[in-house]
Amino acid sequence: NEYAIGLDLGGTKILAGLVDSEGRVVSQKQLPTSSEDGEKAVISRVLAAIEAVMLEVSVDRNQIRGVGIASAGVIDSAKKEVIFASNLGWRDVPIGNLIQERFDLPASLMNDANASAVAEWMWGAGKGTQNMIYVTVSTGVGAGIICNGRLLLGHDGSAGEFGHISIDWNGPICSCGNRGCLENYASGTAIENVARARMVSKESSLSGSLSEGESLTAKQIGEAALQGDPFSIDILKQAGFYLGIGATSLIHLFNPEMIVFGGGVMNAAPVILEEIEKSLKERCIPGLASQVRVELNQLGIESGVMGAAGLLFSEERKG
Ligand code: BGC
Ligand code: NA
Ligand code: ZN
Repeated sequence: NEYAIGLDLGGTKILAGLVDSEGRVVSQKQLPTSSEDGEKAVISRVLAAIEAVMLEVSVDRNQIRGVGIASAGVIDSAKKEVIFASNLGWRDVPIGNLIQERFDLPASLMNDANASAVAEWMWGAGKGTQNMIYVTVSTGVGAGIICNGRLLLGHDGSAGEFGHISIDWNGPICSCGNRGCLENYASGTAIENVARARMVSKESSLSGSLSEGESLTAKQIGEAALQGDPFSIDILKQAGFYLGIGATSLIHLFNPEMIVFGGGVMNAAPVILEEIEKSLKERCIPGLASQVRVELNQLGIESGVMGAAGLLFSEERKG
């Protein structure tokens, strides 16, 4: 049997997995990203997570093809460098070479949402489609575009920076330098910020459960919404509305047959997914939107790991 290691590096968590050639994750290790600890600390957690899955007893080292890295941010896939990842606080980090040198295994680097798109397309909600887009709504917002039966890479491998399309030219300055980026209205981070601002104005009955200076996480807000909390439902619906506005542009540009939404915020799909669909169908050019299926992801949090590792196998088959 052959395996590849997949590594998903996001703003909140680091997930490493040992993946077989069918895309099954046979062992995994998750660590918090905690990017506030700095680049070195995050890199050492990345290495520790890979190390942990390599120690999987039943697998021999020479059965491991390589390490497929899926990272948040703009990447240079040829140099295997993370060029700019605001949610990691990284600029020009040669993560691919660091991993290659440390483990003496070939490494490849792609964007995290692009990796999940590949996995959902090969094994998940988008199986059998030729034109589908995967959108992750997590710490940040990102997308991977499958166009005419292949992943759209762009010049450096960074196509699909959906979270940084500007939906308000005059909006707040985003960590990327632009103004009014979608991610400032509809990510896990944005949901937390909206909740914090509204808490201050005492709009929520949830404020009683928090101690001084504490604020709600996007996860808590999602859970409360699923329990029927009106404050949380309202925040999530607003995020859904903005995601639909953004998705309208995706439909206009790529004419997909399906858009798949995943990421941590989508744990609250029963509250948010319908809102996304409603807003994109209202805004889209007639004729384009009616064809699009809006779906929930099927693979869960391992999709980035699966996609990044999976491509190592398919590249090998090609070559
Ligand atoms: C980054 C993307 C990433 C997305 C999800 C965004 O802030 O710019 O590269 O795919 O977050 O992690
Ligand atoms: Na992307
Ligand atoms: Zn931005």
